[in-house]
Amino acid sequence: MKVLVIGSGGREHALVWKLKQSPKVDVIFCTPGNAGISELAECLDIKADDIDALLNFAKYEWIDLTVVGPEAPLTAGIVDAFVKEDRRIFGPDASGARLEGSKVFAKDFMLKYGIPSAEYKTFTSYIHAEEYIRLKGAPVVIKADGLAAGKGVFVCETRDEAIDALKVIMKDKAFGPAGNKVLIEQCLKGEEASFMVLTDGKTVLPLATSQDHKRIYDNDKGPNTGGMGAYSPAPVITQNLEKSVMKSVIEPLIKGLSREGINYRGVIYAGLMICDGKPFVLEFNCRFGDPEAQPVLMRLDSDLCEALKATTEGKLKDVKITWKNDVSVCVVMTSKGYPGPYEKGDKIIGLDSQKNRNDVVVFHSGTTLKDGEVVTSGGRVLGVTARGQDVKTAKEKAYEAVEKIHFKGMHYRKDIADKAIEKP
Ligand code: AMP
Ligand code: GLY
Repeated sequence: MKVLVIGSGGREHALVWKLKQSPKVDVIFCTPGNAGISELAECLDIKADDIDALLNFAKYEWIDLTVVGPEAPLTAGIVDAFVKEDRRIFGPDASGARLEGSKVFAKDFMLKYGIPSAEYKTFTSYIHAEEYIRLKGAPVVIKADGLAAGKGVFVCETRDEAIDALKVIMKDKAFGPAGNKVLIEQCLKGEEASFMVLTDGKTVLPLATSQDHKRIYDNDKGPNTGGMGAYSPAPVITQNLEKSVMKSVIEPLIKGLSREGINYRGVIYAGLMICDGKPFVLEFNCRFGDPEAQPVLMRLDSDLCEALKATTEGKLKDVKITWKNDVSVCVVMTSKGYPGPYEKGDKIIGLDSQKNRNDVVVFHSGTTLKDGEVVTSGGRVLGVTARGQDVKTAKEKAYEAVEKIHFKGMHYRKDIADKAIEKP
C-alpha cells in the first residue's frame, strides 16, 4: 500500500515509524514532515491545511490510505473532501471533528448524553461573562470555544486572573474568531489521564492508556504547553476505572454520535480528570494525542496500518489490537522560550547516539534539515521515547538518551513519569 501521513510533529513521526513496520505498507509519504520523518518517508512540501493540493496529490499518486495527524485539516473538512472523491482517509469528517473544533458543541453534547464533565456556562457577551466571574469567584476555568493551538484554556486561581483571561480571549481576540464564544467551567481537582479509542462508529477498540504532563516546569508548575512528556500505561486508570470510562464516557458518546447522525471513523481522545476515582471529561480531541501517541504507539504490537484501514472501512470488528507488556516513557525537549515565542535554527547534536535502537526512539517534533544538518524549527523539538520492563527502567533509558542530545537553550522536565513510579 501507498500511505500518506499529514502533519509534522512527534505524533506524525510515531505514526510513520509504526506504519513503516507494517508488511502491508510499501511506500510512505509525509507532508510536510520533519527531519526525523524524512529518514523513513518521502517528505513533501504541501501544507497540512491545503486540502485541494493534498487531494490532488492523493489522486495523482494513487495513495491507498491517507492518515490525518492534526486537528485543523479535520475540522476544515479534509475527510469530507476525500470521501467525496472515493479516496480512503483516516479521521472523522467535519461533523465529527466538531467534538474538538468547538468546545461549546462538545460540552452541550456531553450534557445531552449524560457524560460526566465539569459544570459550565457559555457566553457570547464579554460583559455577561465578566459579571458571571465576579459572581462565581475562583478557581475557575476559562476556555475559548474554537481551536487555539492548545493555548485557549486558562485555569485561573483568582477572579482577576479569570477576568484577564476573558479579556485576552474576547477583547484582544488573541485566538481570533475562536474566542467569539467562551466557556466558563467549574475547576476540577484530581489527576489527569488520556484515554484514546479507535472507532468506526460501531465497534470501539480502546488504545493503551497514557498520561501527559501539561505544564512547562517540574511538579506541574508554569504555563500549560502542548505536552512536555507522557508515559503508557497510566496506572491511575485501573482495570475497574477503564470499565467505568467505557461505560460512562465512551458508550454514551458513541450512541450520541450515532443519534446525531455523525458517522465517526477515527480516533477519539478523551482528556480525563479522575476525581475521587471517577472519570470526568475535560475535552475531546478528534485525533491522536501528542506526545501521548509516541509512548502509546511504541507499545503497539499489532499492525497499525491494518487497524487504521479497517477503521476507514467500517470493519474494525475484524481487528484485534495487541500491546507489548511493558512501559514506555517519552520526554519532550523544547526550544528556549516555549510555550511563548522561541528561537529556531539551532543545530542538534547527539542524535546519532540513539540510532537503530529498538528500545529508544527519538521522535522529532520541530526539526528541519539545513545544509544537511538537523536544526530546531519548533517549540517542541524532540520526543525521546524509551521502553522498559517497568516505569523506572523506561524513565532511566529515556533520560540517559536525553543527556546525550544537545541544542542551544534546550529545556526538558526532569520528573516525567514520577507520578507512575509513586503508585504502588
Ligand atoms: P483542555 O484543552 O480543555 O483539555 O484543557 C487543557 C488543560 O487545562 C487540561 O489538560 C487541564 O489541565 C486543564 N483543564 C481544562 N478544563 C479543566 C477543568 N474544568 N478543571 C480543571 N482543569 C481543567
Ligand atoms: N497532549 C495533549 C493533546 O494532544 O491534546
